[in-house]
Amino acid sequence: MKFYSASLLISTVVLCLACTVQATDQDLQRFSQHSQEKIKTLAGALKQTLVASMQAGGPTAAVATCNLQAAAITAGINLDTELQIKRTSLKYRNPANQPDAWERDILQKFSQQAASGVAVSQLVHTEKTLKDGQTAYRLMRAIPVGPACLTCHGSDSDIPPTVSEHIQKYYPQDQARGYALGDIRGAFSVWQTIE
Ligand code: HEC
Repeated sequence: MKFYSASLLISTVVLCLACTVQATDQDLQRFSQHSQEKIKTLAGALKQTLVASMQAGGPTAAVATCNLQAAAITAGINLDTELQIKRTSLKYRNPANQPDAWERDILQKFSQQAASGVAVSQLVHTEKTLKDGQTAYRLMRAIPVGPACLTCHGSDSDIPPTVSEHIQKYYPQDQARGYALGDIRGAFSVWQTIE
């Protein structure tokens, strides 16, 4: 009898442990899927605004549009949802986009992986960890530099002087220049606190 209840207890504990692990894996997977959708939404909205303002007033006007609208677009997408998103970078243009310690670690890891030959488009990291002291699911996905980005993030010869002046005016501490095609410009960072 004693043996019976002891083995029942053990198997229940083992089963429950397995349950917890599985549930966490599934939750993390679901979070990862939702994060990818959220990234698509933000990337699409930013691209649409960028393309529209480039067409309307050229890159100089687009710098002003980004300055005024990037944060508002991001905040709009974060409204009323559990998942929060931002863009960040080791060399950021807007100080409001600077990485926290965890994001910095992952961005550095992405740089090492890219240096060892992994394609930037494949760099994704998901983890259950802390965000501002709270347990959270977190995901980062690297953003590669494409041809359209060089006008505002490339080397001095890529950035027209008037665009450069505008960037300087809105972002006197700008670090987001000197990138080449295929570099890691930064990353989308998504999180959901769970406690
Ligand atoms: C017309 C100029 C312009 C172009 C073109 C442009 N950007 Fe930016 N980018 C900006 C400005 C201005 C900011 C700062 C936005 C803000 O205030 O949040 C910025 C910010 C960012 C950030 C957020 C991190 C930071 O540095 O503050 C990322 C990531 C980024 N850009 C990636 C890209 C990528 C990738 C492309 C090409 C697909 C691109 N940008 C094209 C002007 C531009």
